[in-house]
Amino acid sequence: MKVTLVSRSGREVIKGGIELADGATVSDLQEAIHGRIKKYYPSRQRLTLPLQAGSQGKPIVLVPKSKLADYCDGNANNLTVLFKDLGIQVSYSTLFFWEYLGPLIIYPICYYFPVYKYFGYEGERVVYPVQTYALYYWCFHYFKRIMETFFIHRFSHATSPLSNVFRNCAYYWTFGTYIAYHVNHPLYTPVGDLQMKIGFTFGLICQISNLYCHLILRNLRSPSGNGGYQIPGGFLFNIVTCANYTTEIYQWLGFNIATQTIAGYVFLIVASLIMTNWALAKHRRLKKLFDGKEGRPRYPRRWVILPPFI
Ligand SMILES: NC(=O)c1ccc[n+]([C@@H]2O[C@H](COP(=O)([O-])OP(=O)(O)OC[C@H]3O[C@@H](n4cnc5c(N)ncnc54)[C@H](OP(=O)(O)O)[C@@H]3O)[C@@H](O)[C@H]2O)c1
Repeated sequence: MKVTLVSRSGREVIKGGIELADGATVSDLQEAIHGRIKKYYPSRQRLTLPLQAGSQGKPIVLVPKSKLADYCDGNANNLTVLFKDLGIQVSYSTLFFWEYLGPLIIYPICYYFPVYKYFGYEGERVVYPVQTYALYYWCFHYFKRIMETFFIHRFSHATSPLSNVFRNCAYYWTFGTYIAYHVNHPLYTPVGDLQMKIGFTFGLICQISNLYCHLILRNLRSPSGNGGYQIPGGFLFNIVTCANYTTEIYQWLGFNIATQTIAGYVFLIVASLIMTNWALAKHRRLKKLFDGKEGRPRYPRRWVILPPFI
């Protein structure tokens, strides 16, 4: 079988194409491309079938385990494949590790070191108990997320483009600095004792619930990450599709009730909007996968992320 590899501009990626055995799989093709051009390792390649001229819709993505012959329409000896370089890839754990490491380091710097001296605040800084508890709460949160990344999550995608590391780090590191700066500020005004206790207690319960949600999601897949998407159930998943996001949002609410800064609430709003967007997509995907047709189970009626609103 001969595979002709073209780029979006129509240029041939490998001159003369690639010859493969008749029973070759997409994975064999990816390895062959890698063999010819070293920098294009398999996870960096996106292979699709070219769209017919004038046709709308999404192109068919070639699945590594499938046979190439399955994609040949009539002509079993020739296949034209559209090749896209996804750029340098990093593992999901690398991506998550770097984005969470920033806030985990930046926050204690603002608490322990005399950074405010450089912003014109001389003299002794009075540290309120709420600022100390906030430090513990914050560090526990990001430490937990790094641990979950390495020991709990079973990602379906092995890698992500390197550019996402810079984008995600910009998001987490900037917000981390913004909040840490304000909560630890020498002019910070603490809330009342009761409000602080309610905020941190509620937030902590939500953090533990969030961990439990991640354990439930973990058990939906085999250790290799296989198993696709399942209907999550148990605990809060019985009423809401993205219970892990629900608890994440509420734990930030708890932090904000206790610390009460504009910076913290801005982050809460932005994070909630991002997670709501993702949750809507995840809810739609589960409803489509589990449509109740041809023996497939029907996705039960559930809230998406924030009952009783969405
Ligand atoms: N503060 C913020 O701005 C913010 C934003 C986003 C996330 N977070 C936090 O980070 C955590 C992880 O985020 P995430 O977006 O990676 O969470 P996620 O996609 O909902 O799920 C975490 C893991 O569970 C898997 N999973 C989800 N639904 C599944 C299903 N129905 N069947 C089988 N496996 C399923 C995911 O698989 P895939 O690998 O296939 O996705 C992923 O590996 C969140 O729960 C939240 O606590 C915070």
